[in-house]
Amino acid sequence: MNAIVVHAYGGPEVLSYESVPERLPGPGELLIANRAIGVNFIDTYFRSGVYKAPQLPFVPGNEGAGEVVIVGEGVSEFTPGDRVAYTSHLGAYADQTVVPAELVVKLPGSVGFEMAAASLLKGLTAEYLLHRTFDISPGNVILIHAAAGGVGLILTQWAKHLGATVIATAGSPEKVELVRSKGADHVIDYTKDDFVTAVRDITGGRGVDVVYDGVGKATYPASLDVLRPLGLFVSFGNASGVIDNFDILLLGQKGSLFVTRPTLGTFTKNREILLEQAERLFHVIGDGAVQVAINGHYPLAQAADAHRALQSRQTTGATVLLPT
Ligand SMILES: NC(=O)c1ccc[n+]([C@@H]2O[C@H](COP(=O)([O-])OP(=O)(O)OC[C@H]3O[C@@H](n4cnc5c(N)ncnc54)[C@H](OP(=O)(O)O)[C@@H]3O)[C@@H](O)[C@H]2O)c1
Repeated sequence: MNAIVVHAYGGPEVLSYESVPERLPGPGELLIANRAIGVNFIDTYFRSGVYKAPQLPFVPGNEGAGEVVIVGEGVSEFTPGDRVAYTSHLGAYADQTVVPAELVVKLPGSVGFEMAAASLLKGLTAEYLLHRTFDISPGNVILIHAAAGGVGLILTQWAKHLGATVIATAGSPEKVELVRSKGADHVIDYTKDDFVTAVRDITGGRGVDVVYDGVGKATYPASLDVLRPLGLFVSFGNASGVIDNFDILLLGQKGSLFVTRPTLGTFTKNREILLEQAERLFHVIGDGAVQVAINGHYPLAQAADAHRALQSRQTTGATVLLPT
């Protein structure tokens, strides 16, 4: 079978498409034939070494959808031929992936492989950000950074569905239009306008209840300045670089703020929570409350081009890789 292999951390050029030996599933595992593979910003952190893989070389990719081929010993929940998807497991950039069954969910008939690969990791993230990190309800006013991105578009629509007022940022006039068309109440082009001033104006000086910040270095510490007293700073990603000068005293100075740095893996480790999350996600997709925009398709062999596009801010919505 073929897979993308990383032999040494580096730029997109280290994503090498190669023939690799097939692996059989062990106890508790499934062999899955990937039909579509999700591209996520976290894949770039593993590729570059910002996040470390358990060993080198490794097959990157944290999200795939396809069919169960072989069921490992002791697994009773799945049978060959089941349509499934998985996340929180490295090794998805491949024709086939061995995955612990406890990280796999069955797909409803209405959710195709591309849709699943485009939405599972990003959608489960949106679910925990909106329901478990802060319990969003009507009346809440929130700021979502990079709202035209993969997580951003899902987060925006889902937050609107829950009744929040959504202020969003995006990095170009086209992205601003896209986010507005998905229901955001106010969209700021933060490459042109100062988002702190804009949010203060929009909220009449009050500030927002929560900031969802996957941008990281470029928006810190300014993101703290748009929060109301006792507001919550959710730092969930580092698209512009890792925040490396976090100053805890700022939380007090800016109004007894709360901060969290959550990660999806914490939630998906608990199978009951994972299944609850997936059910909620497939529900909001199924009833049309959240539309998943799959705006990039690449053959698996061209994963490097997908990474170049994602890291140079050329993408909107989700990108998928397709094994041939
Ligand atoms: N903690 C978790 O559980 C979790 C799970 C999933 C994703 N994430 C994080 O969520 C964020 C979004 O992930 P995604 O896969 O959906 O990616 P994405 O949002 O589709 O792409 C990243 C976006 O970040 C913005 N950005 C701002 N400064 C940037 C820079 N210097 N370089 C590149 N991009 C920059 C760009 O949008 P603009 O041009 O509009 O600024 C870009 O499109 C990432 O930080 C990711 O790590 C975290």
